[in-house]
Amino acid sequence: MLKRTHTCGQLRLEDAGKRVTLAGWAHSYRDHGNLVFIDLRDKFGLTQLVFNPETHPQTHELAKTVRCEWVIAARGIIQPRSEGMENPKLPTGQIEVSVQQLEILNVSRTPPFEIDSAEKTSEELRLASRYIDLRRPQMQEKLRIRHRVTKLVRDYFDRLGFWEIETPFLAKSTPEGARDFLVPSRLHKNCFYALPQSPQLFKQILMVSGVDKYFQIVRCFRDEDPRADRQAEFTQIDVEMSFVDSNDVLGVHENLLAKIWRDILDVDVAAPMRRMSYKEAMDDYGTDRPDLRFDMKLKNISDIAKQSTFKVFTTVIEKGGIVKGLCTPGEKYSRSDIEKTLTDFVGDYGAKGLAWCKVKKENDKLSLAGGIAKFFSPKLQQQIIKRFEAKDGDLLLFVADTERAANKALAPLRCKLARDLKLYKEGRFEFVWIMDFPLFEWNEDEKRYDSLHHPFTAPAQEDLDKLETDPANVRSQAYDIVVNGSEIGGGSIRIHNAGVQQKVFDLLNISKEQAQQRFGFFLKALEYGAPPHGGIALGLDRIIMLLAGTENIRDVIAFPKTQRGQCLLTDAPSEVDAKQLDELNLRTQRHLHAIEPKQDEKK
Ligand code: AMO
Ligand code: AMP
Repeated sequence: MLKRTHTCGQLRLEDAGKRVTLAGWAHSYRDHGNLVFIDLRDKFGLTQLVFNPETHPQTHELAKTVRCEWVIAARGIIQPRSEGMENPKLPTGQIEVSVQQLEILNVSRTPPFEIDSAEKTSEELRLASRYIDLRRPQMQEKLRIRHRVTKLVRDYFDRLGFWEIETPFLAKSTPEGARDFLVPSRLHKNCFYALPQSPQLFKQILMVSGVDKYFQIVRCFRDEDPRADRQAEFTQIDVEMSFVDSNDVLGVHENLLAKIWRDILDVDVAAPMRRMSYKEAMDDYGTDRPDLRFDMKLKNISDIAKQSTFKVFTTVIEKGGIVKGLCTPGEKYSRSDIEKTLTDFVGDYGAKGLAWCKVKKENDKLSLAGGIAKFFSPKLQQQIIKRFEAKDGDLLLFVADTERAANKALAPLRCKLARDLKLYKEGRFEFVWIMDFPLFEWNEDEKRYDSLHHPFTAPAQEDLDKLETDPANVRSQAYDIVVNGSEIGGGSIRIHNAGVQQKVFDLLNISKEQAQQRFGFFLKALEYGAPPHGGIALGLDRIIMLLAGTENIRDVIAFPKTQRGQCLLTDAPSEVDAKQLDELNLRTQRHLHAIEPKQDEKK
């Protein structure tokens, strides 16, 4: 077998005259009457091979049989390409290899899609033949970025004295709030392991164990519906530190993120990073993951709207709701764009309507026009214009509803408008820490509090006394890191005191028995000298998405699952043998139905 001496991305003009051997896949094939050209591709690049019938007739004949994606090795002499044939877009574009000897290492069936036109191919087809898809330079680049980031992360934490420690996958249910994936135990009939939603409790126990600084690049499993930025199986850069406050945790991770952005993208990110309270984020952007690449703040105009004669507004306000809106350049939007496209858009997020008006200038004076303008007196109109600092031609859009529902519709509307109107430049990154979250969130369906993060998050020191008197207003020592509207990480300082932990469980309506049954092992550990500690988990997949400039999480995972949780390559999930189920003492519905008639027959 011909052994390669160089890669397909390596050779340059100054190598001309050298004899080399290259190996790879036949990327494309051109038969120019007498000369045959093959672009040879490997992970490192493309090099043009040329086959000349006059100098090497047999090799030339063999080359004519080669087809796309065949694996070949070629030995020959590097020569400058003839004039006018250079390809300035390729690093190897000045040269070609004049082949003397060709070996076909393997043939290939015709690929289900062409490597170069994969972008036009359906994602299902690409996922089903992922080995072909991953050959594409664009996909290889994403794999490369991912590798470089994990390497950099490991080196970074190592230098700071962190240890990477593995924690179990076959574990007990953890409390991140999603549904667990369960694994039946063969040795313990009727018992199940849960795959970890995160290593949360283990990493805290490692702090009780005196490990001081832990990190792990770790798979987490959450049985939720996948989305553009969510997979059931995803990867965290998981971290925990002892004897720290939130500033320590934030500092370590700002520097890490700045280093990743500098090394991978050559982008300088300002550290320390901006911080914003949860309240400010919700008020101004309607979400706790604001995209700060553009301004367009939301404004509450309830105080003005309640004086209007627009019934929709006044009724909502009387019922305790609010009127909130935003102001955007309006030239691009016709009345039907607003009343159809934009109204349907917010409707998908649950809004009952979208009220609007435009800002116009007449005789040097701004006023409102169209839509709901007629319900506002000139004085109220001026107040609205002032609130939004609106200009001639602006479009004002409003949703009246509960505060939560208005935010839920306006936050995505704000991002859609900015995207449509190109209000920001690609390649810009705005980092922000969201701080001062409430500790609890009221669950209206179940009439009890839920943890906004998880039940081990410490309350703010100064709000401790409110735990009993005013739980809704207790802030937590939690923080999320958000980039361009994507939550790429979250964590907190933890409760390290068993008494406070018990109080929080009480408020979450987790009874002593339940707490004991679910987290008894952990509460016990807290009683044996738990140090003050805190940590964070960064979403590795989402970080790679930002670095690779993709909005599809599946692009940054070698073997991802579809929106319906399937691996199209291996066809998982799939049914298993009855024997396997028997060993696990399990029956599927199908089994039961198959068995039932037999039982009936016995009667
Ligand atoms: P949290 O649940 O916020 O915190 O997760 C941390 C980060 O992980 C990423 N992430 C996901 N990425 C892809 N698909 C998913 N399904 C998914 N779910 C979460 C997000 C998120 O910010 N144990 C705590 C951390 C801690 O308190 O230390 C935790 O898991 O980027
Ligand atoms: P209607 O009275 O339902 O015909 O609505 C009049 C206008 O108000 C329409 O443009 C609706 O989209 C808008 N609208 C209705 N309900 C709301 C609401 N809750 N918030 C904002 N606008 C609304």
